[in-house]
Amino acid sequence: MYTVFFIGTAGSGKSTLVSALYNWLDDQGYDVGVVNLDPAAEYLPYTPDIDIRDRISARKIMKQFKLGPNASIIAAVDMVVTEAERIKEEMEVVGAPIYLIDTPGQMELFAFRQSGAYLVQKLSDVHSLVVYVADAVYVQSVDGFATTMLLALSSRIRFKKPQVLVVNKADLLSEEAVANIAQWAEDPDILLESIELPRYEKEILRSVANLGGFIEPIFVSAKTGEGLDKLYYQIQLHYTGGEDAQ
Ligand code: GTP
Repeated sequence: MYTVFFIGTAGSGKSTLVSALYNWLDDQGYDVGVVNLDPAAEYLPYTPDIDIRDRISARKIMKQFKLGPNASIIAAVDMVVTEAERIKEEMEVVGAPIYLIDTPGQMELFAFRQSGAYLVQKLSDVHSLVVYVADAVYVQSVDGFATTMLLALSSRIRFKKPQVLVVNKADLLSEEAVANIAQWAEDPDILLESIELPRYEKEILRSVANLGGFIEPIFVSAKTGEGLDKLYYQIQLHYTGGEDAQ
């Protein structure tokens, strides 16, 4: 069983991307399972095989414990941990060789709390991968690019899993913006020349980049389907070194 977790900031397009990749793989005859781990999702653009909302609902917790919206989402995400064993069993029963796993909307709740790391460990078999989903509109500025790379790095430290970085919503980028982003990842000196930062912060960023902290992004659009083939290729590479994952 190969588990692929989709994480990223709120609204970056995780659910839409999970849906688009699922449809793309399904059209090609691949057997793929989908798990929703977001107990606060109001709407999902796909029908999950396993849906945490069947057991834990942020909305119900809000009413039952008279919590505010944020506190109820935090409580709900933490409670997902208690269901980890059963989710894993259900995944084994469904028996898909690959699972796409959609995670809570606000990344910090999943990536920076103990519960998220625990869930990733628990639901990971021998093979697992984290797909960090960044929003193209945000990444196209130098500041947005630099902070995205640092956030992706923070989540790598947290999850301790191999990671690929996807720039989603590429349909909203000009060709020039795509070229800039690709260049900043390839040659961080160009980014460092353009970014306005106090010296100390710039040197930290330089060290991170020089130590391999910037990952080459894959440009995709969950809306048009652009780049889904490249994303799947990377997913395969992490599984088998290039052989098909199924
Ligand atoms: P939350 O879990 O609600 O935080 O969001 P999410 O990261 O799952 O994002 P979601 O899939 O809900 O998408 C957020 C918005 O971005 C929606 O309005 C999507 O239609 C839009 N969106 C997602 N992917 C793309 C894309 O590739 N291109 C464009 N133009 N819009 C997109």
